[in-house]
Amino acid sequence: MPTDSAIDPAIAASRSRLPAGKETIYRHTVVVRITHWVNVIVVSLLLMSGMQIFNAHPRLYWGQYGADADKPWLEMTALKPDSDHPTGVLRLAGAQVTTTGVLGVSKGPDGQPAQRGFPKWATLPSDQDLATGRRWHFFLAWLLVANGLAYLLFGAFNGHFRRDLTPSRDQIRPRSILASIVDHIRLKHPVGEEAKRYNILQKFAYLAVVFVILPAMVLSGLTMSPGVNAAAPWLLDLFGGRASARSIHFITANLIVLFVIVHVVEVFIAGVGNEIRSMITGRYTIRTGTHS
Ligand code: HEM
Repeated sequence: MPTDSAIDPAIAASRSRLPAGKETIYRHTVVVRITHWVNVIVVSLLLMSGMQIFNAHPRLYWGQYGADADKPWLEMTALKPDSDHPTGVLRLAGAQVTTTGVLGVSKGPDGQPAQRGFPKWATLPSDQDLATGRRWHFFLAWLLVANGLAYLLFGAFNGHFRRDLTPSRDQIRPRSILASIVDHIRLKHPVGEEAKRYNILQKFAYLAVVFVILPAMVLSGLTMSPGVNAAAPWLLDLFGGRASARSIHFITANLIVLFVIVHVVEVFIAGVGNEIRSMITGRYTIRTGTHS
């Protein structure tokens, strides 16, 4: 693990084959690795089936009901939808941008431009089919919950959260946080002991995703279920109504997309081979010494 990584004997033996100045540590346990990759597949398919469901009514509102009663704060729609050249637009908080080909208008089943929220290459299934999209989405959502619970229970009981994700006292000093921001801007990587643990920005990002964004996405999703409303009516109060829950569900899903983009860019910057291998085998190679 990143902080007090126990180096197993097989890795210790392979150390002699490493070039001078390098060391291999055991960074990720098998539970973290399995739940991480299950999560990658499940989150990707959830986003795709979620966009299919969103397309049935590509507008978002705040409050209890939305739909015809309120003005949407976000809308994907078509201008002149019945013409040969409809224009796709995204309206967001009063502003409007042309998004033809991607949002509002994209290729329909016959290959001609058609009114659609998200394009068919992004949705599951690709053609407009709300019922199938919902079946995929609800099945995957329970898979996400089961996988997430396994990760949370494991992380709580084996000390992973305390040891690897909780920022240490030295990391939360304003000067250390600033230094980490500067290091990221300069694409500078920690080496030696410092490379054995997550940096502070990484910890903040993982903690936000694991303990705030994903739970908010799951809870706002549950708030839209009539069955759950009967059992836990307080959820509707917590999110300020069904329309607000749908908006928060959409916003948290977009925050996950934003996180994944930055996360994958960081994986490439830090060394894609070493990073991906560490999430598959657990073994991570660091450079020893004090400078990057
Ligand atoms: C193709 C997409 C992805 C790739 C290539 C990837 C890769 C990685 C790698 C290499 C690490 C280890 C980083 C390190 O040791 O410094 C990691 C950790 C992590 N990733 Fe991803 N990831 C992907 C998608 C995701 C998604 C979709 C999520 C969540 C929505 C996610 C959440 C996390 C979290 C929370 C950790 C820390 C795990 C822990 O230590 O408990 N990743 N990822």
